[in-house]
Amino acid sequence: MKERPEVRPSDGKLGVLLPGFGAVATTVVAGVESVRRGLAAPIGSLTQMQTIRLGKRNEDRTPLIRDFVDLVPLDRLVFGAWDPIADDGYQSAVNAGVLDRHEHLDPIKDFLSSIKPMSAAFDPEYVKKLDGPNVKAGATKRDLAEQIRADIRRFKEDNDCARLVMVWCGSTEIFLRPGPQHETLEAFERAMEENDPAIAPSMLYAYAAIMEGVPYANGAPNLSADFPALENEAIARGVPIGGKDFKTGQTLMKTILAPGFKARMLGLRGWFSTNILGNRDGEVLDDPASFKTKEESKLGALDHILQPRMYPELYEDLYHKVRINYYPPRGDNKEGWDNIDIFGWLGYPMQIKVDFLCRDSILAAPIVLDLALFLDLSSRAGMSGIQEWLSFYFKAPQTLPGLYPEHDIFIQHWKLKNTLRWMMGEDQITHLGQDYDE
Ligand SMILES: NC(=O)c1ccc[n+]([C@@H]2O[C@H](COP(=O)([O-])OP(=O)(O)OC[C@H]3O[C@@H](n4cnc5c(N)ncnc54)[C@H](O)[C@@H]3O)[C@@H](O)[C@H]2O)c1
Repeated sequence: MKERPEVRPSDGKLGVLLPGFGAVATTVVAGVESVRRGLAAPIGSLTQMQTIRLGKRNEDRTPLIRDFVDLVPLDRLVFGAWDPIADDGYQSAVNAGVLDRHEHLDPIKDFLSSIKPMSAAFDPEYVKKLDGPNVKAGATKRDLAEQIRADIRRFKEDNDCARLVMVWCGSTEIFLRPGPQHETLEAFERAMEENDPAIAPSMLYAYAAIMEGVPYANGAPNLSADFPALENEAIARGVPIGGKDFKTGQTLMKTILAPGFKARMLGLRGWFSTNILGNRDGEVLDDPASFKTKEESKLGALDHILQPRMYPELYEDLYHKVRINYYPPRGDNKEGWDNIDIFGWLGYPMQIKVDFLCRDSILAAPIVLDLALFLDLSSRAGMSGIQEWLSFYFKAPQTLPGLYPEHDIFIQHWKLKNTLRWMMGEDQITHLGQDYDE
């Protein structure tokens, strides 16, 4: 096992930089401010609400995670954002329609209105259903990346931040596969200079963050930092990174249910998932190229949880289908249906129907907060590159080369907590319980 790290103290302000200031980003910012003013509770956030068991069961040591590890308290967070749409935080949150205007937005209007998005590195080629005037101009993609780096430095100085983190909350970009342009930093920088179409805007933010030593998490399924050039540079510069795609809604349900079926050796013949949603994310995903990026991210989970190669008679013939339908009347309150065809003893079929009336951004907001605080912790602990212990938060967890991603939410949760125990020099919890009375 690696030696336990020294964790530097969390002193000073932490700047949380959000490329994309739409539904998810404004919901987390408004939520943090509401919690700070004592108007609401940070429900869904492990860093704010969860406890962690330490030592043996009879020791009765279960502090809150935030009392156990040194995390930046909410009153020392400062927010910044970029968006091609120039709306300030209040207007953007009103448009997103996630939080009730009278109950949750008007009481903090002064604060939300004060956050105005910086101009974005944006190109409608990569997000077809969107356009906006608040964009950077530059002869090359490298110029744009350098402008983002300058924004980062300016934000840090203007807001007197000790450290920064960046979490991509921008729209899902079109599907791209990593190519030779993404192999090495030299090739990547050359491709930016040549305006190569293989370089999407989200990659410019990821590059800028890593070069500035700012931890980076990707909440969308597009590549962004998921290729060797940036992964290796993150390690070289001691920068923690994580991705991809916040685990909310249907995939959250899938990674809760599927491990249970497998644990009980129940077979699966089909899993049909369909969604209706009407927010801007739904509109962007109406474009087949952006949907393809999302589909790839959503399909992987079941395969990795069920291990059909190990259990061919249970899972080899599983028919898995995911659909997203843009349906404006629903707004952010999407509905996700799952029809699950399972089979049991002697092959007898059964069906499970899940109808999740879900609020996507309500599920995503605490993930953004936790990722920001945990990535800052990783950084202060000297941990760099892909932070697999944060797979818990992602639909398509990035992994080190040669490793398969861990999708089972219970294993992910265990791994997250054991990592915190390891960081603090506490024993790992194995649940063995043979060395003391149960
Ligand atoms: N809502 C969820 O629960 C959830 C779950 C998993 C993943 N995601 C992903 O998170 C992202 C944000 O979701 P949302 O519901 O807030 O969407 P949204 O459409 O409300 O917000 C996205 C914002 O990103 C901006 N944007 C697009 N390209 C940009 C660029 N290059 N630079 C800066 N800003 C840019 C858009 O103008 C928009 O305001 C999406 O990619 C979505 O797929 C969301």
